[in-house]
Amino acid sequence: MIDNLGAVSRSPQKSRRTVLSVPGSNPRMLEKAQGLDADEVFLDLEDAVAPDAKDAARDNVIRAVREGDWSGKTLAVRVNDWTTSWTHRDVVDVVSAVGDRLDALILPKAETAHHVAAVDLMLTQLETAHRLEAGRLRLEVQIESALGLQNIDSIATASARVETLVFGPADFMASLNMRSLVVGEQPPGYDVGDAYHYALMRILVTARAHGLQAIDGPYLQVRDVEGFRRAARSSAALGYDGKWVLHPDQIAVGNEVFAPAQDDYDRAEAILDAYAHSTSAAGGHRGAVMLGDEMLDEASRKMALVIAAKGRAAGLTRSQDPA
Ligand code: GLV
Ligand code: MG
Repeated sequence: MIDNLGAVSRSPQKSRRTVLSVPGSNPRMLEKAQGLDADEVFLDLEDAVAPDAKDAARDNVIRAVREGDWSGKTLAVRVNDWTTSWTHRDVVDVVSAVGDRLDALILPKAETAHHVAAVDLMLTQLETAHRLEAGRLRLEVQIESALGLQNIDSIATASARVETLVFGPADFMASLNMRSLVVGEQPPGYDVGDAYHYALMRILVTARAHGLQAIDGPYLQVRDVEGFRRAARSSAALGYDGKWVLHPDQIAVGNEVFAPAQDDYDRAEAILDAYAHSTSAAGGHRGAVMLGDEMLDEASRKMALVIAAKGRAAGLTRSQDPA
C-alpha cells in the first residue's frame, strides 16, 4: 500500500463494531455467545472470573474454543495481567491447546512496553513449538491506567502483533481515583465536559498514528440501553471502530451505531466522484471544487475515502436516489 505522507501505511484489518465479553467461568454463556451477532467474541480469564475459578475457567475456555462453532467471528481470549500469577499459564495452556483456532489474545492493564514484549516472546516460542503460523496470533492491548496511558506510544509499538488498542474505563477510573462508581458515565460534579475525552482521544490518536484499531471499552449498566447508545455514539463520532458489549441488547445497538450510515456513505462516494472529475483533464485540473454548498479539496477526499472504505467493507452500495 502506498505510504503517502503516512496516510495509510498498513493493510486494513478486519473491522469490529461489537466485541462481546464472555466470562470463561460460565459454560452456559460460552455456549450462548456462539449464536450472538457480535463481530468479535473474547473469552475472559481476567476480571469476570473469580481468583479461585481461574483454573476451571481456563479449561472451560479451551473446551469452548475447541468444540464451539465460532465461524464468522473474530475469536480472542483475555489473559490475566502481568501483576498476577496467572498470565504465563493462561498464555501457555491456551495457545498450546487451541492457538490454531484463535485470532488474538487480549492483554489487560498494559502499563509498559515490556508487558507487551513479554507476551510477544511467549507467543513466538509457542508458535515454533506447536508449528503454528509465525506471527499470526495478534494482540489487543487494554489501556486502563494512568501509567498505561503515559506509555501508550511505546506500548503500541512494542510488537508487530499489536493490532488494537482498547480503552478500559472501569480500571482507568479506579487508577485515577475518579469519584464515580458508574462505569462509562460522567462522574457527578464534573460539569465542564467529558471526563474520558483525554483518554479516548489519546488512545485514538495513537492507534491512528500506528495503523491500529481503536476500540472503546464496556458500559456496565446493561439495562440502560439508551445510556449505552449515548456512550457508543460518542466514541463512534470521535472515530472509534467499535465498542465492547456485555449483553445481547448492547450488541444490536452497537452494531447499528458503529455501522456506516447510508447517507454518509452516499455523500462520501459523491465527494470522491466530484473530486476525481474536478482534478481530471475533463474537469480542468481543479484542486478545489464546490459540491452543493461545500468546498472540497484534497483533505475532503481523504475524509471521504475513510467513510467510503468503511461503507464498502460493510457491504453498502450507493442509493439510486441519494438524499
Ligand atoms: C475493562 O477491562 C475495564 O476496566 O473497563
Ligand atoms: Mg479492566
